[in-house]
Amino acid sequence: MRIIEKVSEMQQQADAWRREGKRIALVPTMGYLHRGHLTLMQKARNHADIVVMSVFVNPIQFGPGEDFERYPRDMERDVRLAKEVGVDVAFSPSATDMYPEGYQTHIEVTEVTRPLCGKSRPGHFQGVTTVVGKLFHIVKPHTAIFGEKDFQQLVAIRRMVKDLNMDIEILGHPIVREEDGLAMSSRNVYLNSEQRKNALRLSQSLREAQTLVRQGERNSAAVLARVRNILEAGKDMRIDYAEMRHPETLQEASQIEGPVLLALAVFVGATRLIDNRVLNASA
Ligand code: PAJ
Repeated sequence: MRIIEKVSEMQQQADAWRREGKRIALVPTMGYLHRGHLTLMQKARNHADIVVMSVFVNPIQFGPGEDFERYPRDMERDVRLAKEVGVDVAFSPSATDMYPEGYQTHIEVTEVTRPLCGKSRPGHFQGVTTVVGKLFHIVKPHTAIFGEKDFQQLVAIRRMVKDLNMDIEILGHPIVREEDGLAMSSRNVYLNSEQRKNALRLSQSLREAQTLVRQGERNSAAVLARVRNILEAGKDMRIDYAEMRHPETLQEASQIEGPVLLALAVFVGATRLIDNRVLNASA
């Protein structure tokens, strides 16, 4: 596996692959890989000749007071793991190569980035769509893979690609979980053992919500009340949001008719975790 650090070198390599008629897949990450990331790379392997993973802790998607500085990093381990699943190139640019002095251009997707994480993390999605747009121009992929763990991010990227006529196929992948249900996340390393146990309440509450819906509950407020109950019973837990939204438009859904996204963001101690599930009346 090759490691490329320079934007210009990555672009030249991508041009060469394209001239050879190779199909390129990109899996953007911020590193500190876990099985969720690796599953996306395995999926990429099945959809392309060349798999590129980017590892870049993108400063402009972190707000002031968020965890940019202490975000976990371990490039050596990431390279080893990515190699095992058949990644061809790890693209790991420096922040100054991505955002040189004088940088002033951003991509903003408006409506779908307003609620949920957009509300609690102002500027976050602009940082995400900007860096993903840049990565698309640098790696020149035919396809790019994103996890449903960051459901709103996936919706925003699909919107950007459509609105800006980017000729890239976006593939989503279901949330990969630990055996006990906790959604895998690089941020799970922040949790101590008691917080780790409490964090299970997120996935538990999503399962409980699906059960209620299966039993015939169609009122979002009733389901959310039960979800909030489960979450708030955990020590040192604070709900940032727990909301029902239409999975495509992300508009509020007061009734459960057809698939409805139940999206959660919860502080466990100082760590903010997100999780979600698409609830279905017929599931
Ligand atoms: P990061 O959090 O490293 O996630 C990289 C990709 O892995 C994202 O598409 C995310 O949705 C996916 N992912 C993370 N945990 C997952 C899980 N448990 N199951 C399935 N997929 C999972 O998301 C980002 O980085 C950044 O915002 C990025 C898109 C790289 C832009 O900087």
